[in-house]
Amino acid sequence: MERKQLNIGLFGFGCVGYGLHQVLAQTTNVAASIKYICVKNKNKMRQIVASNFVFDKHIILDDAEINVVVELIDDADEAFEIVKKAMQNGKAVVSANKKMIAEHFDELRLLQKQYEVPFLYEGSVCASIPIIRNLEEYYNNDLLTSVEGIVNGSTNYILTKIEAENTSYQIALQQAQENGYAESNPILDTGGFDAKYKLLILLAHAFGLVVQPKEILNIGIDGISPLAIKYAKENGLKIKLIAHAIKINEKEIVAVVAPKLIASSNQLYRVDDVYNGVCLQTAFAESQFFVGKGAGAHPTASAVLSDISALTFNYRYEYHKIKINQYTLVNNNRIVVGVLLSASIEDIEALKHYFSNITETYSNHTDAYIIGKIGLQDLQLINIAFDACIILISIMQQPTTTIEAQQLAFAN
Ligand SMILES: NC(=O)c1ccc[n+]([C@@H]2O[C@H](COP(=O)([O-])OP(=O)(O)OC[C@H]3O[C@@H](n4cnc5c(N)ncnc54)[C@H](OP(=O)(O)O)[C@@H]3O)[C@@H](O)[C@H]2O)c1
Repeated sequence: MERKQLNIGLFGFGCVGYGLHQVLAQTTNVAASIKYICVKNKNKMRQIVASNFVFDKHIILDDAEINVVVELIDDADEAFEIVKKAMQNGKAVVSANKKMIAEHFDELRLLQKQYEVPFLYEGSVCASIPIIRNLEEYYNNDLLTSVEGIVNGSTNYILTKIEAENTSYQIALQQAQENGYAESNPILDTGGFDAKYKLLILLAHAFGLVVQPKEILNIGIDGISPLAIKYAKENGLKIKLIAHAIKINEKEIVAVVAPKLIASSNQLYRVDDVYNGVCLQTAFAESQFFVGKGAGAHPTASAVLSDISALTFNYRYEYHKIKINQYTLVNNNRIVVGVLLSASIEDIEALKHYFSNITETYSNHTDAYIIGKIGLQDLQLINIAFDACIILISIMQQPTTTIEAQQLAFAN
């Protein structure tokens, strides 16, 4: 097949945009070159000559010679306007903007169909790990049973610094920002929103399930208490921010982002710093594990480059699984979550009532924790109504029949 020559209009020249410029300059086997780079701030010093830059998006969007728009800006609303217009003008688009993709997933799919242009976004999930294309192309819908992973590099970096070096949360966050790992607005990372956007994209490509961001519970790492950190250390566990997508039966999927206690036997235990890791459980291949850098200029740019290269072969996502989707998201108390909950002594007394089973309690002069089982819907309520630190231990389905109970007992 003859490879297409790509003429790129690049939006954004920050961490990833500049990274892509460097990576492209060192890549000889991709027939692509950047014609213009559109940025926002006219007074900023740039690493390359000024004649490369434009400040009006229409210069790229209306240029008939440009056949690919690469969108790498940090403003999700403006990114959507750029991507939409680019597709309407018949241009292929590559983006790494998970917030924009998650918030407009269905519209973006329709635009691709309506204007017959590809839209690729491998860099939006786990940066350097080729997870979207693998889920899209390799794994058959009914073979996958769960996708769980560390999908946010900056929170993993922060948690590693806290765990391994006793660094304070604030200092670790600052270091993540200095290294270019954190989003411009850090609450997107630390609040678990970025991981949730990625989980939404993974759900669509793994299971064909398209949901809105507000439907997925996300608990961040900003509330992790010293008591929880101490508990993890004393028990040889690590706290990791995990995105979970678990098929619980032939019709339902549980999707949650939350900090979780990870044992040393779990492959994710050794995924530290800015690395991401994704574990897939499948019916026949059983457990599979992907690992790689989940943030930073060159790792993310490598995924963007791979999408650009794929465009030269006319690659596009076909979204087969969405077309035959049979799943819904389940968020109710039928889903039972094993959890460590820590809070002030007064709050813990109120929180005890939500537990169906308590296996351990502890308190010092001011704070306390409970370990036990709680319904997923109740956990959502607690997350909103209480100033509590929530750390997951497990996710399971409440058996509704004796046969299910026997099956679960056997599986566990
Ligand atoms: N950093 C990572 O490790 C990473 C990993 C995966 C995905 N991503 C995603 O990649 C995208 C870019 O992230 P980044 O870290 O490279 O951001 P960044 O370093 O903050 O750079 C943002 C760039 O966007 C430009 N920009 C903002 N608004 C614009 C507008 N309206 N028109 C044109 N340019 C505009 C800025 O222009 P000025 O230079 O003029 O300010 C800047 O060059 C985001 O969607 C992010 O979620 C990042």
